[in-house]
Amino acid sequence: MLIGDPAETTAQSLLIGVPKETAPGEKRVATVPEVVEKLIKLGFSVAVQSGAGDASNLSDDAYRAAGAQVIDGAAQLFAASDMVFKIGVPTPEEVGLMHAGQTLITFIWPAQNPELMKQLADRKVTVLAIDSLPRTLSRAQKMDALTSQAGVAGYRAVIEAANAFGRFFAGQITAAGKVPPAKVFIAGAGVAGLAAIGTAASLGAIVRANDTRAEVADQVVSLGGEFVKVDYEEEGSGGGGYAKVMSEGFLKAQREMYAKQAREVDIIITTALIPGKPAPRLITAEMVQSMKPGSVIVDMAAERGGNCELTEPGQAVVKHGVTIVGYTDLASRLARQSSTLYATNLFRLTEELCKTKDGIIDVNMEDEAIRGLTVIKNGEVTWPPPAPKVAPTPAAKPAAAVAAPAAKKGHGHGAASEPMARGKLAIMFGVAAALFWFVGANAPTAFLAHFTVFVLACFVGYMVVWNVTPALHTPLMSVTNAISSIIAIGALVQIAPPLAGGAAPDSWIRWLAVGGIALTAVNMFGGFAVTQRMLDMFRK
Ligand code: NAI
Repeated sequence: MLIGDPAETTAQSLLIGVPKETAPGEKRVATVPEVVEKLIKLGFSVAVQSGAGDASNLSDDAYRAAGAQVIDGAAQLFAASDMVFKIGVPTPEEVGLMHAGQTLITFIWPAQNPELMKQLADRKVTVLAIDSLPRTLSRAQKMDALTSQAGVAGYRAVIEAANAFGRFFAGQITAAGKVPPAKVFIAGAGVAGLAAIGTAASLGAIVRANDTRAEVADQVVSLGGEFVKVDYEEEGSGGGGYAKVMSEGFLKAQREMYAKQAREVDIIITTALIPGKPAPRLITAEMVQSMKPGSVIVDMAAERGGNCELTEPGQAVVKHGVTIVGYTDLASRLARQSSTLYATNLFRLTEELCKTKDGIIDVNMEDEAIRGLTVIKNGEVTWPPPAPKVAPTPAAKPAAAVAAPAAKKGHGHGAASEPMARGKLAIMFGVAAALFWFVGANAPTAFLAHFTVFVLACFVGYMVVWNVTPALHTPLMSVTNAISSIIAIGALVQIAPPLAGGAAPDSWIRWLAVGGIALTAVNMFGGFAVTQRMLDMFRK
């Protein structure tokens, strides 16, 4: 089919239907007018249920202006659509409206909703669960709705805290008196926690944060927070960037630290979650009691049981003089923003499904991201997907993996690759010895001394550079820039005209020096260019 042929595109392209969300209080919508235009450019037709965007301040007319049809009623919309874009987990009524061959993209949480999975499979539909995206694939980040929604929720948590808190976040010195900055403690520095840290810090609060995964400490600091460690050594990563359930010893030490923070800070925002487990209880009733009157807790884990003992999911309550906000719809409270980000995630996913840009999708199960998302294909349950090919985070090195480099260096015993490595080494030594003999027999004595230093420098340089951890390559580059400068000076001396009475160097030495200057210039200017690019990454 010719891309851009309007007659054929309309004849074959699929219709994407976007119903009005039905969960109580849900204000978001699965697509927005800007994205409708992009979907149409990709060859699809788009239909939106009348009133679907109202709660996000997106009128039917705005959708019409973007090229979408507006259809009255969910039943008509579902009947007309080849694909359905939603946000909320579908209700039994919505499942009942689906027909064989239809494709549904929405949040499903297949592990928690086995009955729903069965009902959907019975309808002979294809279901892509946006929550099942393999998030650690870098290609998948543009489709990662969990991240986009958690970012919005983290921001909104700070806004809710500011709303319930009776003071400024930033410290001020005014004629009317001195106002100290608010102190905010964030428990859990995942996507939502980091968004909350950035928002609270930008409002001028003093921000502290803790997480069981030590690797987030630098991220906390880079967003303007201080990472508060638990005085107990235990690795908190459970794989895939997620946390694990910690030992009782760790939790006890963590509770002591949290109790101290509760006494000191004005606002606590908790975001701690562990996949497939109830939210860890981090803030006890005594800790709430120890907080200053007027303090605020926003419990972002309320839906999964809450990180605070006194949270009431969906409610804001005042207990012991502390406002405890347990809203479970934080992203929906910023509906226009979260809908736009979600719609973009789904558009990126649609692009992946429709590489031919002709409004036809191909649910390619060979593609790791699509495979992970597809929980039902044509009525057949395909969840859970097979284990990913690449480990998302470097796991603790197994004994064999540790032994391999040792074998490479010639210290190991019995590794399969060892005989070949030894053979290679022997050939290299043989060639090097022959070269030395040739140079020693033919070159002048003065050259031989320089040559020996040169060869040793190459060897030592190679051993040093190749053993540097990749993370240290940038500082290493600045050192090599300094070395390059010395090489440039040496080479310039060689090509300079001889001093009075001095002998001119051979022309081949001159040419060697010219070559040296050219190579070292590449290193120096390349180094400057890379450094500049890295600095640009940190400039706003
Ligand atoms: P989440 O919502 O499951 O958990 C939130 C945070 O709570 C996590 O940082 C977790 O370590 C922390 N936590 C759990 N138990 C705790 C306890 N007892 N005390 C203190 N903190 C506790 O995780 P989220 O935000 O969905 O993602 C977590 C991580 O996943 C990210 O920070 C990132 O490293 C990784 N990720 C990677 C992506 C990628 O590579 N493209 C995309 C998205 C996430």
